[in-house]
Amino acid sequence: MKLTRRTFCAGLGGVAGLSFIRPATAQTPTLTARKATVQLAPEGYPATDVWSYDGTIPGPMIRVPQGGRVQQTLVNELDVPTSVHWHGIRIDNAMDGVAGLTQDPVAPGERYDYDFVVPDAGTYWYHAHTNSMEQVGRGLSGPLIIDESTPPDVDRDEVLMLNDWLLDPDTGAFSEPFAHPMMMSHGGRTGNLIGVNGQFAYALTARTGERLRLRLINAANARIFVLRLQGMAGWTVALDGMPLDAPEPATSEIILAPAQRVDLIVDVTATPDDPAGILMSLNNDGWEALVEMTVSGSTERRPDAPAPLPANPNTARPDLNDAQQFEMVMEGGAMAGMDSAMYQGETLDFRALIDRGQFWALSGQAGMSETPFASLNQGAVARVTLINRTAFAHAMHLHGMHFREVRADGSLGPLRDTILSYPEQPLEIAFVADNPGKWLFHCHMLAHAASGMNTWIEVV
Ligand code: C2O
Ligand code: CU
Repeated sequence: MKLTRRTFCAGLGGVAGLSFIRPATAQTPTLTARKATVQLAPEGYPATDVWSYDGTIPGPMIRVPQGGRVQQTLVNELDVPTSVHWHGIRIDNAMDGVAGLTQDPVAPGERYDYDFVVPDAGTYWYHAHTNSMEQVGRGLSGPLIIDESTPPDVDRDEVLMLNDWLLDPDTGAFSEPFAHPMMMSHGGRTGNLIGVNGQFAYALTARTGERLRLRLINAANARIFVLRLQGMAGWTVALDGMPLDAPEPATSEIILAPAQRVDLIVDVTATPDDPAGILMSLNNDGWEALVEMTVSGSTERRPDAPAPLPANPNTARPDLNDAQQFEMVMEGGAMAGMDSAMYQGETLDFRALIDRGQFWALSGQAGMSETPFASLNQGAVARVTLINRTAFAHAMHLHGMHFREVRADGSLGPLRDTILSYPEQPLEIAFVADNPGKWLFHCHMLAHAASGMNTWIEVV
């Protein structure tokens, strides 16, 4: 009998444990981008047709130990091309998920294997990075948690993914169009329904005295959350995934721009029946509950403040003395406008830019350019002054590397991957260009990125 692959394998059927039979390895997990219907609005309102990962809002939590590998096969069951970006991970450039820059978009019906090592512990997230304004707006995002090898001493670890959606309350459908000129030229697509972990009334339960780690992720398209703790006393221990050198008492408002994360460690101080939870300020017009916490029972409160989270590798402060200087002028939008900018190789005036759906420019360039905003040698230190000549705040996000704010007194702020720039308030950031590749630098108000505030740097 001729030995074929089939008979060969069949012939081995009865011989268990032969060492040359490869052990069955776990299949690479899949992340399926597909349509689903989800109850985002409160009970009594219609459900919403969303674009989801694996049918849920938010997508499934991906959780791996620090230094481990994320392996996920994106399966695209949508009718449009898509890709996944792993926000805040200091990732290998080829895995960054930016369609048109680091990979081709994944066509409907196709698959794409993401496989990368996660160097840093912390709170991250993943989201679509092809036509992000619409795809993230329709639900394509989820939490990505990288665990420290020695986790902090807490009773529970809660991931809270904050989002808002712009829905028609009568039908539950997303308001169309996504590329709305009014939203693009103003503050972005701000929703009329705010939720946590995909739910309108997400609630926590706790006992008095418990210590909780709260991981807040702002997955909203444009909303800046202004938050305050009620019935809890705590500390900020990490920003955008990166541990602070020392926990900072979270006594004042917590401002969370789109894409930003904050890790809090809090002690529950409320006693049963006391109001407790996370409050948000809506248009500076009073506070209301974002997350309610029901307190019952009690436990001994820990006497000491939490220890700092273990530092991530490769987080030394850059030496500013031999830094390369760049200036990024942000222009455009309603109420400020601009004279002209380059768009696809042409200089256009503001009217002509608007006709092409471009409302914003970064240093005279609307949208992506052939050449990078900055080209840096690996290991170089870059300082970028952000000059906001618009009438709006922008959440500027750099892919691939975290940066620090250079404060007015020359000191350096904590590591971040996204920072809010306010109108007419100069802001400077510095980073070590230690991750080779092509990295986007854009506003995370996704309607702004889609209409001009999107550029890239290169590390060679
Ligand atoms: Cu959340 Cu271009 O990224
Ligand atoms: Cu912006």
